[in-house]
Amino acid sequence: MTQKWMPPIYWEGEAVAILDQRILPQREKVICCTTPEQVIKAIKTMAVRGAPAIGVAGALALALGARSMRMGDAREFTRKFSLLCNKVKEARPTGANLAWAVERIYSVVVENPRASVKELQNLIKVQADAILTEDVAVCREIGRWGSEVVPKGARILTYCNAGALATADYGTAVGVIRSAYEKDPTVQVYSCETRPFLQGARLTSFELMRAGIPVTLICDNAVGSLMSQGKIDMAVVGADRIAANGDTANKIGTYMVAVLARTHDIPFYIAAPRSTIDPTLPDGSGIPIEQRDPAEVTHLCGRRIAPDGVIAINPAFDVTPNKYITGIITEVGVLRKPFGKAIRKALEE
Ligand code: MRU
Repeated sequence: MTQKWMPPIYWEGEAVAILDQRILPQREKVICCTTPEQVIKAIKTMAVRGAPAIGVAGALALALGARSMRMGDAREFTRKFSLLCNKVKEARPTGANLAWAVERIYSVVVENPRASVKELQNLIKVQADAILTEDVAVCREIGRWGSEVVPKGARILTYCNAGALATADYGTAVGVIRSAYEKDPTVQVYSCETRPFLQGARLTSFELMRAGIPVTLICDNAVGSLMSQGKIDMAVVGADRIAANGDTANKIGTYMVAVLARTHDIPFYIAAPRSTIDPTLPDGSGIPIEQRDPAEVTHLCGRRIAPDGVIAINPAFDVTPNKYITGIITEVGVLRKPFGKAIRKALEE
């Protein structure tokens, strides 16, 4: 029997429910967060992950935190709320959507200087809910635009997980795949396993299988060989932060896929909402790259696989220079080169 699909993050009554992605696909367990600190921990430990989903989690954390602030003085509320905003923003550094969501929520406080604490709490909750629901609508639009660049019967390569699990639902790169598959059930997917956290092996293959979309799992180091054999028609991946010139940070290993795609004349697309674009960065050199615990590299599923004491590094993201990117699929269309101009225009819409 097909199990019901569970979104990665949603309100469960007064609590924020987070599907624990660290233990998927073996177990489908939901963490119930009643405090913003619990949501921050879920973001840091990657129980919830993927740039848009982290943005939604940050927004819901702020709604939870605002509700629990019991002081009657709006100035005192604003001071405490801004400290919480900073804490949420710092939970993970690379994805632009977290800071975007925090700033969008905080602007409610700035724009309503005469509001009471109760009114601010309500406005913050409304804004957080809007971020959650808009994300699903935005992903569907990304899917719709993206499906137009997918050739008939395409064999599509994707990397990491830019699916329903990485957003409020539906997905960005996987949204493109879902939408393409609805039009043409002959498309098929190669999902890279994505060491060290295995988002591709554990999450992308899981959600594509659940959607009934044909998927083949490959090791990350099989990409070049498959491309050279003519077995890949296009690649589409998500993004964590896109600079003003189109340089794109995504999961470590994405750059390698993009270079291989160029070598083999295979179109390489980024799929992301406009909230992933950081227009304050002229290019990708300023994108902060999260360095995670080396134990994620030396251990696999909690078991040591490398010699005790070996030095390991664990950069979680890399930056793909814009020259390797064929197009950036957003909710307002597919942006083409020169990306600087196309991005400016997309942000004005
Ligand atoms: O470390 P993660 O799992 O949060 O990294 C996720 C990615 O790199 C995704 O590809 C990206 O966030 C896009 S998700 C729609």
